[in-house]
Amino acid sequence: MPVVAVIGAQWGDEGKGKVVDLLSPKADIIARSQGGANAGHTIERDGQRFILHLLPSGILTPEKRCLIGPGVVLDPDAFNTEIEEVKSHGINLDHRLIVDNRTHLVFPTHKLLDNCQEEARGGNMIGTTSRGIGPAYADKSARRGVRVGDLLDDRRRQKVCSEIFDIHTRMLEKVYGQEPPDKDAFLQNCEKWAEGLRPYAGNAVEELHIALDNNQTVLLEGAQGTYLDIDLGTYPFVTSSHPTVGGAVLGIGMPPGKIDFVLGVIKAYCTRVGSGPFPTEMDAETAEEIRKCGAEFGSTTGRPRRCGWLDLAAAKQSARWNGINGWAVTKLDVLDGLEHLKAGIGYQVRGSVITSSPSTRQEWDEVEPVYAGLKSWKNCASKRDINAFPKTALDYLGTIEKFTGVPVSLISVGADHEATIMPRGDII
Ligand code: IMP
Repeated sequence: MPVVAVIGAQWGDEGKGKVVDLLSPKADIIARSQGGANAGHTIERDGQRFILHLLPSGILTPEKRCLIGPGVVLDPDAFNTEIEEVKSHGINLDHRLIVDNRTHLVFPTHKLLDNCQEEARGGNMIGTTSRGIGPAYADKSARRGVRVGDLLDDRRRQKVCSEIFDIHTRMLEKVYGQEPPDKDAFLQNCEKWAEGLRPYAGNAVEELHIALDNNQTVLLEGAQGTYLDIDLGTYPFVTSSHPTVGGAVLGIGMPPGKIDFVLGVIKAYCTRVGSGPFPTEMDAETAEEIRKCGAEFGSTTGRPRRCGWLDLAAAKQSARWNGINGWAVTKLDVLDGLEHLKAGIGYQVRGSVITSSPSTRQEWDEVEPVYAGLKSWKNCASKRDINAFPKTALDYLGTIEKFTGVPVSLISVGADHEATIMPRGDII
């Protein structure tokens, strides 16, 4: 049975939530391997809208087991809120969710530090989600982070939580001149968070391997997108984890060779939240049109997303880095009726045209997109059969395939499940 990794191939917000939700009924296990509550996976089901930040999108499909791997950073407050929210919709979580004991925690002081660090960056602000992601991964790398298993250990909890709190308050006071938060309240919250997490904590990696041994179907749910990858993305305007396929396997202890299919998710255009290079960014008027039509506002922060033309050069690079076997092209309907359509096919930099992604910050700042004009269409939104698609929309998809060398496996033309076409048959 297959292992499918669903990977964002742009700057996040590609529509991974819908895709995972759609594929979940055929999977046994759905796992998150990286990122944290900075993610916002939007799912519309039976007239209800869910935005999941930490729980794998498979949680909405009854009886599917969901894993949160060691590569995730978990905010226990956000986790508890999400658990309550999901339960309030009558979703049974018994024996369905395991958070790995090795998963690092995000505390309120991480979020305070995130905001202080952003402010200190001044004009170089990253535009983070303020969810404490960077500081939590920094603590993890510095080998002083607190993990789920530490929080649940009655003998160690006070000590490790107290130590990290003291480090954070020293930084907040001495570096950023902030009033320290209340330590007693924090330690009391640690007790509360431990109780909230206890029913779900376990060995998610082992659970995954048992599933693999039993030939079960596994979906790896990526968060954020390739160009936000800390190593390969537009550094420093990136997140602090690996949204690429490497992060998807590493963060749950999956051997890379087990992956059967990498589904790269791209929007039919591009968006990005926060600062940083975005070569195919549109003019303000067209961006406004797309933003309105595509509801392009951050699902975690509500910020308006920057909008751009489809960057085929970036998609091609993403396909190479992630070993993408098929594209899921989402929000094709948002381009319905747009008068002029174009896509980036390379970058002009210092007199030459490149199709690979720049490797320096300077180059990213300098690149000018090279565009190909494409013909627009009137209506994809109502189509449910690939044969009914306007010819020019098929040409658009054909251009994606031809330029990137990757076939289109899934087309999404609306939020509902039925607004999906799989032109090459089922993925799982
Ligand atoms: P952080 O992950 O909160 O540290 O934010 C770092 C950068 O990644 C910022 O530009 C964020 O807007 C962006 N980012 C983080 N998570 C997401 C996401 O789920 N979708 C889109 N952008 C994201």
